[in-house]
Amino acid sequence: MGKLVDDLNKNNANTKARFHMPGHSGITLSDVYSSAPYDVTELGFNDNLNCPNGTLKELEENISKVSKTYASLLFTSGTTTSIFVGLGALRKYSKKIAIDQFSHKSVFEGARLWDYDVTIIPREYDKEGMAKPLTSLDNFIANHPDIKIISLTSPDYLGICINSEEIKKIRDKDVLVFVDSAHGAHFKFSEALPQALTEVADIVCESWHKTLPVYTGGSVLQICNDKLGNIINVCTMLRAKLHTTSPSYVTLSSFDESLSLMKDVDYDNIAENVEALKKNNPKFSYLESDDPTKLTINVSEDIFVANGIIPETSFGRWTNFIITPFNMDKLPLLEHVLKKAKPIKKIHSVSIPKAPRKLPKKLKPETEIVFINIEDSLGYISATDVGSYPPGVPVLFEGQKITKSHNQVTPPHFIT
Ligand SMILES: Cc1ncc(COP(=O)(O)O)c(C=O)c1O
Repeated sequence: MGKLVDDLNKNNANTKARFHMPGHSGITLSDVYSSAPYDVTELGFNDNLNCPNGTLKELEENISKVSKTYASLLFTSGTTTSIFVGLGALRKYSKKIAIDQFSHKSVFEGARLWDYDVTIIPREYDKEGMAKPLTSLDNFIANHPDIKIISLTSPDYLGICINSEEIKKIRDKDVLVFVDSAHGAHFKFSEALPQALTEVADIVCESWHKTLPVYTGGSVLQICNDKLGNIINVCTMLRAKLHTTSPSYVTLSSFDESLSLMKDVDYDNIAENVEALKKNNPKFSYLESDDPTKLTINVSEDIFVANGIIPETSFGRWTNFIITPFNMDKLPLLEHVLKKAKPIKKIHSVSIPKAPRKLPKKLKPETEIVFINIEDSLGYISATDVGSYPPGVPVLFEGQKITKSHNQVTPPHFIT
């Protein structure tokens, strides 16, 4: 148990009645409110995320120590906000940025927020609409000598990583590297996992709530380069501007707990068990991943859901499961259902539209907005980024004219 949880426990033990926010007053009114005692507002003893100088500062320092970074800033409003802050802090170094096409919508929105001039780094896609890995940026960098900031996504949603040597090469050319590592927060906890890119990049954002035992919204902005002047102060200021002024202490407490929970985890065991499952079930195909905790199988999710085994997502012929140290013992249940399932052989073809070379100009706030079905949208200008969720990667950008190539892609859900 860390100091924040310890302090909250002491406070709870000494409290006879709460007459402060939130309005559940700390009472477990039903199962939904089981964390209510930890859901508090700023009470003095528990610091303030706007400008931490007590317990939260200590928690941030502990997270930075574990992460081996220069500084760590916590967020309870998700990696969307930490991306906004990280990109905002880098803006003074250059107006020009290059962004990996296979990036989450928050990266493009962050670039718009800070008025970046964005060149999109194109990705190739396979016939199922899956992004092929970015293997080399040598040509891109050689052709864009004026770009001084590059934003990459690694790992992606399915655990495909960019080689850290590529990032080192980019930085050797005096280009700053920002990495959205939303799906890689766990890498630092085991040698059995890919290298954490905090070791090579300048700024990295991590969704601790995606793969670690941290409640939803828990994200960390990692400042990895100690030569970026007073960037910690800039990030702290931008966080105070963009973050909700009501951070979740339930989420902050889970950050604190996660540090002890992650001390004795065994990812070697996960990797071995996942490999064994694949070997024991050779009639299925498995999507390749650099991250052994991402298990993606050509099977329908329906049979799993019907048996109470809930995957992370499914798309096309694939269903994806995230294995953690906390659900590892349930892997035999997953395998039991898998044995009863049939592989899906039929390939669902998806053609991803070519991305524009530059991110289109954002729409003026006074622009008239209408909601229409994608089938009826030909010729319109998109008012927002659109793509399927997950992975939340736009295939149509704000300000882009909608063509046949866009309205033929019919993702199950739309980003609005
Ligand atoms: C690659 C990537 N980056 C950023 C985000 C945004 O993270 P959050 O949901 O924590 O705001 C997501 C969320 O799906 C993501 O997949």
